[in-house]
Amino acid sequence: MRSIATGRLALAALVMGATAVLASPSFAQATGANIWAKGGCADCHGNLAAGDGDPAYPQGPNLRRTALQRAELREVIACGRPGTDMPYHVVDAYTAGTPCFGITAGVPPATRKAGALAAPDLDTLVDFLLTSVKGQTRITRANCALFNGGDLDAPACAEFPR
Ligand code: HEC
Repeated sequence: MRSIATGRLALAALVMGATAVLASPSFAQATGANIWAKGGCADCHGNLAAGDGDPAYPQGPNLRRTALQRAELREVIACGRPGTDMPYHVVDAYTAGTPCFGITAGVPPATRKAGALAAPDLDTLVDFLLTSVKGQTRITRANCALFNGGDLDAPACAEFPR
Protein backbone atom coordinates (compact mmCIF):
# COMPACT_ATOMS: atom_id res chain seq x y z
CA MET A 1 0.00 0.00 0.00
CA ARG A 2 2.63 2.39 1.14
CA SER A 3 4.84 1.99 -1.89
CA ILE A 4 1.86 2.43 -4.22
CA ALA A 5 0.97 5.66 -2.44
CA THR A 6 4.57 6.85 -2.67
CA GLY A 7 4.61 5.92 -6.33
CA ARG A 8 1.48 7.94 -6.93
CA LEU A 9 2.98 10.90 -5.13
CA ALA A 10 6.10 10.71 -7.26
CA LEU A 11 3.97 10.53 -10.38
CA ALA A 12 1.90 13.50 -9.24
CA ALA A 13 5.10 15.49 -8.62
CA LEU A 14 6.34 14.56 -12.07
CA VAL A 15 3.07 15.61 -13.72
CA MET A 16 3.05 18.86 -11.76
CA GLY A 17 6.62 19.53 -12.83
CA ALA A 18 5.72 18.93 -16.44
CA THR A 19 2.69 21.22 -16.10
CA ALA A 20 4.87 23.99 -14.70
CA VAL A 21 7.21 23.69 -17.66
CA LEU A 22 4.31 23.72 -20.11
CA ALA A 23 2.50 26.58 -18.39
CA SER A 24 3.25 29.06 -21.15
CA PRO A 25 0.38 31.42 -22.04
CA SER A 26 -0.57 29.35 -25.07
CA PHE A 27 -0.88 26.19 -22.96
CA ALA A 28 -3.13 27.95 -20.44
CA GLN A 29 -5.20 29.42 -23.26
CA ALA A 30 -5.60 26.09 -25.00
CA THR A 31 -6.78 24.55 -21.75
CA GLY A 32 -9.27 27.39 -21.26
CA ALA A 33 -10.54 26.86 -24.80
CA ASN A 34 -11.05 23.16 -24.07
CA ILE A 35 -13.12 24.02 -21.01
CA TRP A 36 -15.06 26.52 -23.12
CA ALA A 37 -15.90 23.79 -25.62
CA LYS A 38 -16.57 21.01 -23.12
CA GLY A 39 -18.54 23.33 -20.83
CA GLY A 40 -21.16 23.83 -23.53
CA CYS A 41 -20.64 27.61 -23.60
CA ALA A 42 -20.25 27.53 -27.38
CA ASP A 43 -23.81 26.22 -27.85
CA CYS A 44 -25.23 29.59 -26.82
CA HIS A 45 -22.29 32.01 -27.15
CA GLY A 46 -20.79 30.63 -30.36
CA ASN A 47 -17.62 28.66 -31.08
CA LEU A 48 -15.52 31.83 -30.86
CA ALA A 49 -17.51 33.43 -28.02
CA ALA A 50 -18.72 36.06 -30.48
CA GLY A 51 -22.44 35.55 -29.81
CA ASP A 52 -23.33 33.44 -32.82
CA GLY A 53 -24.32 30.23 -31.09
CA ASP A 54 -26.16 27.21 -32.40
CA PRO A 55 -29.66 28.33 -33.50
CA ALA A 56 -31.06 25.34 -31.62
CA TYR A 57 -29.99 26.95 -28.31
CA PRO A 58 -30.90 30.23 -26.60
CA GLN A 59 -28.79 33.08 -27.92
CA GLY A 60 -25.97 34.16 -25.58
CA PRO A 61 -24.33 37.58 -25.96
CA ASN A 62 -20.97 38.30 -27.62
CA LEU A 63 -18.50 37.86 -24.77
CA ARG A 64 -15.79 39.72 -26.71
CA ARG A 65 -17.77 42.85 -25.86
CA THR A 66 -18.41 42.05 -22.19
CA ALA A 67 -17.64 44.79 -19.68
CA LEU A 68 -17.46 42.36 -16.76
CA GLN A 69 -14.35 42.11 -14.58
CA ARG A 70 -12.83 38.91 -13.19
CA ALA A 71 -15.02 38.55 -10.08
CA GLU A 72 -18.21 39.31 -12.03
CA LEU A 73 -17.31 36.87 -14.80
CA ARG A 74 -16.63 34.19 -12.23
CA GLU A 75 -19.91 34.83 -10.43
CA VAL A 76 -22.11 34.89 -13.53
CA ILE A 77 -20.56 31.64 -14.82
CA ALA A 78 -20.76 29.91 -11.43
CA CYS A 79 -24.24 31.22 -10.63
CA GLY A 80 -25.92 31.92 -13.95
CA ARG A 81 -28.46 34.75 -14.12
CA PRO A 82 -31.86 33.97 -12.58
CA GLY A 83 -34.69 34.70 -14.98
CA THR A 84 -32.47 34.48 -18.07
CA ASP A 85 -31.11 31.62 -20.18
CA MET A 86 -27.61 31.93 -18.65
CA PRO A 87 -27.30 28.73 -16.57
CA TYR A 88 -25.32 28.16 -13.38
CA HIS A 89 -22.29 25.86 -13.53
CA VAL A 90 -21.28 25.15 -9.92
CA VAL A 91 -23.06 22.33 -8.07
CA ASP A 92 -23.36 24.15 -4.73
CA ALA A 93 -24.37 27.52 -6.22
CA TYR A 94 -26.69 29.59 -4.00
CA THR A 95 -25.52 27.88 -0.79
CA ALA A 96 -23.01 28.93 1.86
CA GLY A 97 -20.41 27.01 -0.19
CA THR A 98 -20.90 29.28 -3.22
CA PRO A 99 -23.00 32.34 -2.36
CA CYS A 100 -24.51 33.88 -5.49
CA PHE A 101 -25.41 37.57 -5.62
CA GLY A 102 -25.65 37.37 -1.83
CA ILE A 103 -28.10 34.44 -1.92
CA THR A 104 -27.31 31.28 0.10
CA ALA A 105 -30.86 29.95 0.56
CA GLY A 106 -30.93 27.78 -2.55
CA VAL A 107 -31.34 28.23 -6.28
CA PRO A 108 -34.00 30.87 -7.08
CA PRO A 109 -36.88 29.95 -9.41
CA ALA A 110 -36.33 30.34 -13.16
CA THR A 111 -32.60 29.72 -12.82
CA ARG A 112 -31.22 27.45 -15.51
CA LYS A 113 -28.78 24.68 -14.64
CA ALA A 114 -25.93 23.41 -16.84
CA GLY A 115 -23.16 20.84 -16.54
CA ALA A 116 -20.90 21.30 -13.52
CA LEU A 117 -17.52 23.04 -13.66
CA ALA A 118 -14.92 22.32 -10.96
CA ALA A 119 -13.45 25.42 -9.26
CA PRO A 120 -9.99 25.13 -10.92
CA ASP A 121 -11.64 24.81 -14.34
CA LEU A 122 -13.79 27.84 -13.60
CA ASP A 123 -10.67 29.88 -12.82
CA THR A 124 -8.89 28.64 -15.96
CA LEU A 125 -11.95 29.51 -18.02
CA VAL A 126 -12.16 33.03 -16.55
CA ASP A 127 -8.41 33.53 -17.21
CA PHE A 128 -9.01 32.47 -20.79
CA LEU A 129 -11.95 34.86 -21.23
CA LEU A 130 -9.84 37.73 -19.87
CA THR A 131 -6.71 36.99 -21.95
CA SER A 132 -8.23 35.78 -25.21
CA VAL A 133 -11.86 36.90 -25.50
CA LYS A 134 -12.78 40.10 -23.67
CA GLY A 135 -11.92 43.15 -25.79
CA GLN A 136 -10.76 41.06 -28.76
CA THR A 137 -13.50 42.11 -31.15
CA ARG A 138 -11.38 41.75 -34.30
CA ILE A 139 -10.79 38.01 -34.47
CA THR A 140 -7.36 37.06 -35.81
CA ARG A 141 -6.29 33.69 -37.23
CA ALA A 142 -4.23 33.05 -34.10
CA ASN A 143 -7.16 33.82 -31.82
CA CYS A 144 -9.46 31.56 -33.84
CA ALA A 145 -6.80 28.82 -33.72
CA LEU A 146 -6.94 28.83 -29.91
CA PHE A 147 -10.51 27.53 -30.21
CA ASN A 148 -9.44 24.94 -32.78
CA GLY A 149 -6.72 22.99 -31.02
CA GLY A 150 -4.07 25.60 -31.88
CA ASP A 151 -4.38 24.78 -35.59
CA LEU A 152 -3.73 27.94 -37.65
CA ASP A 153 -4.85 26.06 -40.76
CA ALA A 154 -8.18 24.91 -39.32
CA PRO A 155 -10.86 25.41 -42.02
CA ALA A 156 -13.02 27.26 -39.47
CA CYS A 157 -10.26 29.92 -39.21
CA ALA A 158 -9.57 30.46 -42.91
CA GLU A 159 -11.72 33.63 -43.05
CA PHE A 160 -9.67 35.41 -40.37
CA PRO A 161 -6.52 37.46 -41.13
CA ARG A 162 -3.16 36.11 -39.98
C1 HEC B 1 -28.24 27.83 -22.58
C2 HEC B 1 -27.49 28.95 -23.13
C3 HEC B 1 -26.21 29.37 -22.42
C4 HEC B 1 -25.14 28.60 -22.03
C5 HEC B 1 -24.97 27.10 -22.15
C6 HEC B 1 -24.17 29.52 -21.50
N1 HEC B 1 -24.62 30.79 -21.55
FE1 HEC B 1 -23.66 32.46 -20.88
N2 HEC B 1 -25.30 33.58 -21.26
C7 HEC B 1 -26.44 33.13 -21.90
C8 HEC B 1 -27.39 34.22 -21.99
C9 HEC B 1 -28.75 34.17 -22.65
C10 HEC B 1 -26.79 35.34 -21.35
C11 HEC B 1 -27.39 36.74 -21.16
C12 HEC B 1 -28.13 36.76 -19.84
C13 HEC B 1 -28.85 38.08 -19.63
O1 HEC B 1 -29.85 38.30 -20.30
O2 HEC B 1 -28.38 38.87 -18.80
C14 HEC B 1 -25.47 34.90 -20.91
C15 HEC B 1 -24.57 35.69 -20.25
C16 HEC B 1 -23.24 35.33 -19.98
C17 HEC B 1 -22.25 36.20 -19.43
C18 HEC B 1 -22.46 37.65 -19.01
C19 HEC B 1 -22.03 38.56 -20.13
C20 HEC B 1 -22.18 40.02 -19.78
O3 HEC B 1 -21.38 40.82 -20.31
O4 HEC B 1 -23.09 40.39 -19.02
C21 HEC B 1 -21.09 35.49 -19.36
C22 HEC B 1 -19.74 35.97 -18.87
C23 HEC B 1 -21.38 34.16 -19.86
N3 HEC B 1 -22.70 34.10 -20.22
C24 HEC B 1 -20.44 33.14 -19.96
C25 HEC B 1 -20.76 31.81 -20.23
C26 HEC B 1 -19.83 30.72 -20.15
C27 HEC B 1 -18.35 30.86 -19.86
C28 HEC B 1 -20.54 29.59 -20.39
C29 HEC B 1 -20.06 28.16 -20.35
C30 HEC B 1 -19.45 27.70 -19.10
C31 HEC B 1 -21.90 29.98 -20.69
N4 HEC B 1 -22.00 31.34 -20.58
C32 HEC B 1 -22.93 29.11 -21.02
C33 HEC B 1 -26.67 31.86 -22.37
C34 HEC B 1 -25.86 30.77 -22.12
